[in-house]
Amino acid sequence: MIFKNLRNQISVILDHDPAARSALEVVFCYPGFHAIAFYLASNLAWRNGLKWLGRFISHLGRVLTGIEIHPAAIIGQRLFIDHGMGVVIGATTEIGDDVTLYQGVTLGGTSLERGTKRHPTLENGVIVGAGAKVLGPITVGENARIGSNAVVVGDVPAETTVVGVPAKAVREKSPSTQTSFLAYGTPENIPDPVARALEKMLEEMQALDARIKDLEKGESPEDSGMDEEPDGPGS
Ligand SMILES: CC(C)(COP(=O)(O)OP(=O)(O)OC[C@H]1O[C@@H](n2cnc3c(N)ncnc32)[C@H](O)[C@@H]1OP(=O)(O)O)[C@@H](O)C(=O)NCCC(=O)NCCS
Repeated sequence: MIFKNLRNQISVILDHDPAARSALEVVFCYPGFHAIAFYLASNLAWRNGLKWLGRFISHLGRVLTGIEIHPAAIIGQRLFIDHGMGVVIGATTEIGDDVTLYQGVTLGGTSLERGTKRHPTLENGVIVGAGAKVLGPITVGENARIGSNAVVVGDVPAETTVVGVPAKAVREKSPSTQTSFLAYGTPENIPDPVARALEKMLEEMQALDARIKDLEKGESPEDSGMDEEPDGPGS
């Protein structure tokens, strides 16, 4: 099971990071990979009642990678931790499948009450930008994106992007456009600003054209009085 997980990790990193050139490079040079390896071992110890050992393995992982994952955290398949330094994942955190975390992310608690859920739940496909803090027993819905340095203290609906402190929604994503991994959480279909400006100009020209046609239809030359002779001084 652990080996299958680690093999998955290697393919996730090769898929998601264009800088990763080979499995060997991932195994030796990727702290995100090492952190998951330490987590899997520490979690195994923790689940088998060896809590001190679990904590110790987790601590070793932190020393070597700068990524701190509590052995009791529940983590799904293919978690991708990019760069990693400064990531903290608390004890009652739950993470779904295909989640991405960048460096400096904290999935932290806001209370000290033992035995309760104190940390967030991240559903499948969530992307958390560098330095973001997700705090408390909140839920971040499927495929939501959290901007870098955001501080999230409330639930985030699925398919929603939130930014800022405290984090607020900036947009809901269109389900048809974002089915695959978004590097850095940035959509693939970013509109070209020049093309967007030209489209707007075309729309306005068409609207003006239609308006002129309407006016021409509604007002005959007699109505408009354009063909009438101007009143001369002798008339
Ligand atoms: C949040 C994020 C996913 C949004 O990407 P997007 O869908 O392309 O959104 P846009 O860039 O169009 O931004 C939408 C709005 O949010 C604002 N915004 C985007 N990211 C923000 C952030 N981190 N903090 C505050 N505001 C932010 C933009 O200024 C824009 O505001 P406006 O509508 O008033 O102009 C992206 O900006 C982000 O932070 N990704 C994480 C990147 C990261 O951590 N990289 C680390 C690599 S090592």
